[in-house]
Amino acid sequence: MPLHVLNHPLGAHVLTHLRDKTTKPALFRTLSYQIGLLLALEATRDLATEDKSIETPLETMTGRVLAKPLAVVPILRAGLGMLQPFHDIFPDVAVGYVGLERDHTTAVARNYYCKLPPLAGTRVVIVDPMLATGGSAAHAIKVIKEAGGTEIVFVCIVASPEGVAVVHQEHPEIAIYTGSLDRQLNDKKYILPGLGDFGDRLYGT
Ligand code: PRP
Ligand code: URA
Repeated sequence: MPLHVLNHPLGAHVLTHLRDKTTKPALFRTLSYQIGLLLALEATRDLATEDKSIETPLETMTGRVLAKPLAVVPILRAGLGMLQPFHDIFPDVAVGYVGLERDHTTAVARNYYCKLPPLAGTRVVIVDPMLATGGSAAHAIKVIKEAGGTEIVFVCIVASPEGVAVVHQEHPEIAIYTGSLDRQLNDKKYILPGLGDFGDRLYGT
């Protein structure tokens, strides 16, 4: 499935300030919201709609409304920084949580929490700002599939080529939406040029 890289001047502007190491957590949260909103719009561009007959103040017309429920699943904890935009533009969205944490030495993600709404017949949008080795994303997609999710997309702010390759290898049908496709991983499995540890910068840890 395709890799969609955000192509919007505001996206580029916001991403540059997110990458800047002098950006403090308060601004970092605002910027995460802004790029999350742009990505939420991109990742839902192909949502199915259906006819709905309504009365305008002047006459009857047939409009279009969303045909399927939507669920968003942030990967804890950094994914929480991308949740609010979905709430703001899709007030009825259901929210699930998958808690994953990379081991600092091995970079292998450990699953410590999972709480999901019913997923059958739902478009599921997994959000996690960083797609590095791809281990967290591939694991979260597997968890969502095991819970009954069939229509899944993955949304991140920065992706590495290595992470994209892992997700496409393990889950070839999953579309990935990203704010940027960066150059590579370093020897500690951080993305270059990247923006550092997203969770730490979001929460000041
Ligand atoms: C970060 C990030 C992803 C993961 C990506 O989370 O938010 O979940 O790393 O790395 P991967 O593609 O190599 O798996 P982290 O494990 O640092 O946890 P946090 O969100 O609690 O900070
Ligand atoms: N997790 C992050 O927060 N940043 C990276 O560069 C890689 C994993």
